[in-house]
Amino acid sequence: MKKIIKNPAQIVTVNTKGKNYKRGKELKKINMLENHSIIINNETIEEIISNDNLSNYSGLETIDVSGKTVLPGLIDCHTHTAFSGSRADEFKMKLTGADYEDIAKAGGGINSTVSAVRKSSFDELVDVVKPRIDYFISQGITSLEIKSGYGLSFYDEIKLLQVIKHLNSLYKIDIIPTFLGAHTFPLEYKNDHQKYIEIISEELIPYIAKNKLAKFCDAFCEATAFTADQVDLIFTKAKEAGLKLKLHTEQFNVVGGLEIGLKHKVTSVDHLEVVNDEDIAKLAKSKIVTVLLPGVSFFLDYNYAPARKLIDNNAIVALSTDYNPGSSHIANISLIMSLAALKMKMSIEETISAFTINAAKALDIEKECGSIEAGKKADLAIFDTNNYSDIIYNIGKNLNVMTIKNGEIIYNKMG
Ligand code: NIG
Ligand code: FE
Repeated sequence: MKKIIKNPAQIVTVNTKGKNYKRGKELKKINMLENHSIIINNETIEEIISNDNLSNYSGLETIDVSGKTVLPGLIDCHTHTAFSGSRADEFKMKLTGADYEDIAKAGGGINSTVSAVRKSSFDELVDVVKPRIDYFISQGITSLEIKSGYGLSFYDEIKLLQVIKHLNSLYKIDIIPTFLGAHTFPLEYKNDHQKYIEIISEELIPYIAKNKLAKFCDAFCEATAFTADQVDLIFTKAKEAGLKLKLHTEQFNVVGGLEIGLKHKVTSVDHLEVVNDEDIAKLAKSKIVTVLLPGVSFFLDYNYAPARKLIDNNAIVALSTDYNPGSSHIANISLIMSLAALKMKMSIEETISAFTINAAKALDIEKECGSIEAGKKADLAIFDTNNYSDIIYNIGKNLNVMTIKNGEIIYNKMG
């Protein structure tokens, strides 16, 4: 069944001419077209046509988007959406001076969410996560990564990954599961790290790989979490089992995480708020996507990752919300884009590339998603504006009025 997305004011294609990612200067080339329409054939983008040829396409099912702006479906490539409980009290403590690392050391932080998740049943978790996914979809998200990492026992990590799998079956968008057993040490193993690492490497990773419960294995390399050597071991096992890799690193301290990321050729390194110049140069030469999370810097009120240096050195930069209960309780894509522009000095065009094609590359789905190019999935976000800059200028306001996934309308506020 063919459809036409007819006569938008702008189509931001984020065209890569088949390269499927953008590094350095390429991020600002988003290939915006006016006077064009998009032909969809079933689930796929068939072609982008000039409006001069519209008469050849009469009779197709028509979605009239006159005056609107079409972007590739947005991609949030780093989220911890599968959690229960609230850390509002911790937030309150932070407002009066407590810091994130101190709260974590005192057994709060990630472990307080672990305790809430362990108490929640499968169904309770599904119910609490659903409205969050609905909110992402309402903002034009068509692919969403969700990590485990708040179970931290065999039973509870598998429970979270089963919840994520179930949610993926309920929704039309692609939900990409990541195993983050190495998020922090659970309280029962705080004096026996070796034992918990064994559970991850010898029990969880083989089970998850065998049952295809995750695409990626992630780890948090940080003073309050896992050492570089521990991550090295976990990544070696995960890779052997066939999982792809992602890494949270250089968030607060440089503890050798980046070397491990480079060694294992991870798909993405995420955070990088404290990355040094030498490592920026190494990353910029690699094919690793650097996923920047300005919501964390805003929420915790500390330094922003050096987006400008990374882009100017030719790195592949992506952006994400890092939506989670403790360090970025922000699922608002427009706000994150605006923070990237205002606080990290990314241009509007770079910000769009970072939330589309480069986010796709961070999830290893860049061949199918992330740009409006013939042959790719018909994943589109339609905004109520005739100028793409409005999306970022309207800080925190959701201008998305229609989300299309695999050629099907899954959210419609167009009226
Ligand atoms: O990406 N860095 C570690 N993990 C999350 C925070 C999770 C939490 O505080 O619950 C992050 O910032
Ligand atoms: Fe994170």
